[in-house]
Amino acid sequence: MMEIHQFRCTGCSAIVAPEALGGDFRCPGCRELYEVFYPGWNGPRHTRPNPSALRWLWRERRTSLQAEDRSGVWRFREMLPILGDEAGMVTLGEGNTPLYDLPRSAQRLGLAQLRAKHQGMNPTGSFKDTGMTAALSVARERGFSWVACASTGNTSAAMAAYAARAGMRSLVLLPQGKIAWGKLAQAMDYGALTLQLRTDFDGCVRVLAEVVGRAPVYVLNSVNPYRIEGQKTPALEIAEQLEWEVPDHLVVPGGNLANSSALGKGFLEMQHLGLTARVPKISVIQADGANPLVRSMQEFGGERLEPVEAHTRASAIRIGNPASWRKAVRILRQTGGFVEQVSEAEIALAKAEIGSEGIGCEPASAVTLAGLKKLLEHGKIARDESVVLLLTGHTLKDPDYTIHFHRGDLLAGDEAAPVVSQIEGLRRNTIELDADADQVLRELERVRL
Ligand code: F0G
Repeated sequence: MMEIHQFRCTGCSAIVAPEALGGDFRCPGCRELYEVFYPGWNGPRHTRPNPSALRWLWRERRTSLQAEDRSGVWRFREMLPILGDEAGMVTLGEGNTPLYDLPRSAQRLGLAQLRAKHQGMNPTGSFKDTGMTAALSVARERGFSWVACASTGNTSAAMAAYAARAGMRSLVLLPQGKIAWGKLAQAMDYGALTLQLRTDFDGCVRVLAEVVGRAPVYVLNSVNPYRIEGQKTPALEIAEQLEWEVPDHLVVPGGNLANSSALGKGFLEMQHLGLTARVPKISVIQADGANPLVRSMQEFGGERLEPVEAHTRASAIRIGNPASWRKAVRILRQTGGFVEQVSEAEIALAKAEIGSEGIGCEPASAVTLAGLKKLLEHGKIARDESVVLLLTGHTLKDPDYTIHFHRGDLLAGDEAAPVVSQIEGLRRNTIELDADADQVLRELERVRL
């Protein structure tokens, strides 16, 4: 299948064959990132894949017992023909994640319809698995024995797991003390070489770039265009779950800014192939202490990005110099989406609300609900429009955050002040008692009143 995909530079549109791609995945001419494209999809309509046949085939595969058919990524393999040999897929049964209703949040916000696509329900608990199965399968096919990434945690967990399944070794560079324990534990459990560097995520990216130039490792950060091919498949799932309709809005967290563009690519390709009639507006939400895209859009119209020193308790998106920012700007423009930033208190509140729906997510995912509230307030989203929030990580990724919230010591007083009564309404602290039924019944009585 090698000859049916090529790479196009997202800066200067130069086209290269897969064999000619450099290890840093950047165009030697303009230093921008590449994207995969399929020349066969641009011919006359009768030569392109048939949408009805594809929809039928993808649904049929759900009943198959073959691993490559059950995977929520490879089930759609006609949309990502990137492997020379399909038997080379490295899969953990990723994708096929639920699209939940959020009735209580919808009611609170006066929305007719609110759903959450929960990518935290993937095998390693984050959306990274969909991209990792794609790019790691390519790495194995190309004969690499080592893969590597810089990460705020989830990429490293996913990479380590898929590398272990493939019998490959993995090198993980993490910002020391700045990632959630659940994610570090996963990378260790799956046998990665886990190095914590005394820097931030952006520093880890810089070090990795140097390592790649000096050692035969294959980079699995989201600058790798094959990651994007896997990460576009939740767009297909959302459309399929909505009977091939698309929502009016998709709201996505923004960190290194690859995922928003991956989902946008998925929706645009579906429209191009006639699988769906339109695309949703894709909006990107950042923490206000890690907001380089928001600033770029507001101050420079998306033409320039000034890196920031990033601060947020949502450690997954504590990124000041996002690699894929130009791709994200392009998707904002192509779909008509918005950018928004949210405070630490707004994130904490939104996370607790998603928890109280019986779903839960990690802090970085909760920026979507917090951002939605602001987009509604600012009139960017109307209350009769359909909205899907993309939840990127499982609540168990960062239990410390959750426990601190419910104990009441997560936020500083001045951070919590604007929403203190709402926080108190959602806090459910744990209570220690003696092993005594009377004490238990007294608590039950107190809470029921
Ligand atoms: N949500 C979670 C839970 C994440 O782990 C990340 C990124 C994002 C959102 C942002 O996605 O970077 O595509 O804009 N985590 C990366 C990592 C950087 O290393 O795990 P993005």
